[in-house]
Amino acid sequence: MNEIKIFSPATVANVACGFDVLGFCLDSVGDEMVIRKTDKKGIHITKIENFNLPFEAELNVAGVSALAMYNAIDVDFGFEIEIYKNIKPGSGIGSSAASAVGSVFGMNELLGKPFNKTQLTEFAIKGEALASKCEHADNLAPALFGGFTLVKSISPLQILEIPSPNDLYATIIHPQIEIKTSESRAILPKVVALSKAIEQWANLGSLVHALHTSNYELISNSLNDVIVEPYRSQLIPYFNDVKKAVLKAGALGCGISGSGPSIFSLNKGLETANKVKDAMQNVYSKTGITFDIHVSKINTQGVKIID
Ligand code: HSE
Repeated sequence: MNEIKIFSPATVANVACGFDVLGFCLDSVGDEMVIRKTDKKGIHITKIENFNLPFEAELNVAGVSALAMYNAIDVDFGFEIEIYKNIKPGSGIGSSAASAVGSVFGMNELLGKPFNKTQLTEFAIKGEALASKCEHADNLAPALFGGFTLVKSISPLQILEIPSPNDLYATIIHPQIEIKTSESRAILPKVVALSKAIEQWANLGSLVHALHTSNYELISNSLNDVIVEPYRSQLIPYFNDVKKAVLKAGALGCGISGSGPSIFSLNKGLETANKVKDAMQNVYSKTGITFDIHVSKINTQGVKIID
């Protein structure tokens, strides 16, 4: 096999109470990439569609993660990468992670799978760090493993897979404004009050337990972010209005997707997920800001081959 086409999914990081550690994978939106072996050694980005991103491998997220893997192998050929980018950079649904994961997943397949998913995440972290100026894996891990994942530690990298209740659906609104992850990290406090930390880790622990036991009521009670949301929500127009409308429409909970501006909700059942979509649409259609809305079952597969 000399060429492969893959789908690299969007993801929701943080999931309210799990800043930098928890994430889940979507199936209704993602990038497509073609990875091809070539006689010319090195990593060559030959096509980028839909967005204006750098072709130089060392300046491109997909290129940096590909180079991290390429430098760890000894081969007498190179790789070409074509990127069909559907996830807008700076959207808060793991655009850079999808790029970082797609290249290393595709290369690994063409090489006969010498690396496991945790090792692929290690390479992809290098690409993600180019975009967000720090190493974190809460978008990368769900994009690679699928479902919900918890990044137990970055060094050494330890990723836990967490089960997804069958009837859990996400609804995500993506207002078409850009918030750079590096900038929305820069506004966060370096130190937090112990009382807030206690609340946050109690919520994270109970959310993980609720996912294991398919306890939708506990999922709902746990989806609270008392540390990051108060700061970042100020960057997202109409965040509080969306949250109020979404909860009224029956969502289990609602929060900022990754570093924003996307806002996610988790819902029991497709019918509620669609009602929540209408509620989001009602709020944003009055604002003059263009937006996309995605309704998605939790994608338990992650990045995959499509051709
Ligand atoms: N955990 C990261 C953040 C996800 O919230 O900054 C965005 O890349």
